[in-house]
Amino acid sequence: MLKIQKNIQLTIINSEVPQPLIFQRFPQLSKSIPWMALGQFPTPVERLTKLEKHLGLESLWIKRDDLSGALYGGNKVRTLEFVLAEAKKREADLLIAYSALGSNWPLACVVYAKQQGWPTDVFFLPYPMDNVKRENLELINELSRKVYSAKSKFTFPFLLYKQLARSRKTGSVYLTPPGGVSPTTTLGYVNAALELKEQHENGELPIPDFIFCSLGSGGTAAGISIGLALIGWPTQVIAVRVVDFIVANKFTSNLLIRRTLKLLKRNGVSLPNRNWGSNLRIEHNYFGKGYSQPTDLGEQSIELFKSHENQLLDSTYTGKTFAPIIDLSKDVSFKNKHILFWQTLNSRNLDKILNLPEFDIRN
Ligand SMILES: Cc1ncc(COP(=O)(O)O)c(C=O)c1O
Repeated sequence: MLKIQKNIQLTIINSEVPQPLIFQRFPQLSKSIPWMALGQFPTPVERLTKLEKHLGLESLWIKRDDLSGALYGGNKVRTLEFVLAEAKKREADLLIAYSALGSNWPLACVVYAKQQGWPTDVFFLPYPMDNVKRENLELINELSRKVYSAKSKFTFPFLLYKQLARSRKTGSVYLTPPGGVSPTTTLGYVNAALELKEQHENGELPIPDFIFCSLGSGGTAAGISIGLALIGWPTQVIAVRVVDFIVANKFTSNLLIRRTLKLLKRNGVSLPNRNWGSNLRIEHNYFGKGYSQPTDLGEQSIELFKSHENQLLDSTYTGKTFAPIIDLSKDVSFKNKHILFWQTLNSRNLDKILNLPEFDIRN
């Protein structure tokens, strides 16, 4: 039988913790949608002055979701505030996360689950790895309860469901959504757009003409798209596809948008009839040969960020996502636009993570 210390900070809604802006705007959601505070928000917005000058742009900004949590940052922290609250509601003893080998999602999940007292089993699909993923994999091996790697994509479902059935005999298991993304967790990025609006109202940044973000499982782009429509900004979201077309395309993005809107309506939010998703454009041309396979322009983005801003991008997601900005900077009609790059990769020092207190279920 799994025994864990469900100690500590498992409050779903703690009145002392500031509620997310989406709950302030639609208070009915806080009654029905479980959420717990994990991250540090708002994440900063900054002007990339050196890079802006280098590229000949007039207004280049970054939203620093790399700093979204004290232990571990990146876009999955906003997601996990809903995932772990759901696990708490279901009284889970064990979490299961699955993804491509060495991905950021299972690491974020393992870290925050462990902080909150849960063990996590991680299941991997075979994919090539970049440097970030290799480091992730070491940490996931160290911090999770068990790691299972499928030999092929075809055997993966059998491995997952066989172990899932086994674990369910010994306790309550919560299978987290793929990439952490579901209509509920997409609300994390709807909320992020409301956060950006507040930052604009505080004079921290102009209303962007374009927001560039990665398109993987799709929660980030879909959430921002819905959030921008709610606040009435004319901003266009350019979601740069970084995974296979079959997973990320206009159909899957629109489906997630529609399901998220349905979730909002089901929970008492009345929404205007409008062309939801029309502010979202998917950019397919920077994907290269495959998921996690570097591209020239992606690597150039990494180099530019390092040399001009001393910030880290990666080959799989964020380098490819910045790549179209390099290309477009040569276009005169783009130079004077307000451009926001949404940084979704963790930049917290990973050493801290290894010092998380042990729980008593490793077996
Ligand atoms: C660093 C990073 N950026 C972007 C993404 C894509 O986000 P989404 O799955 O919400 O499309 C991921 C997904 O794992 C990621 O790890």
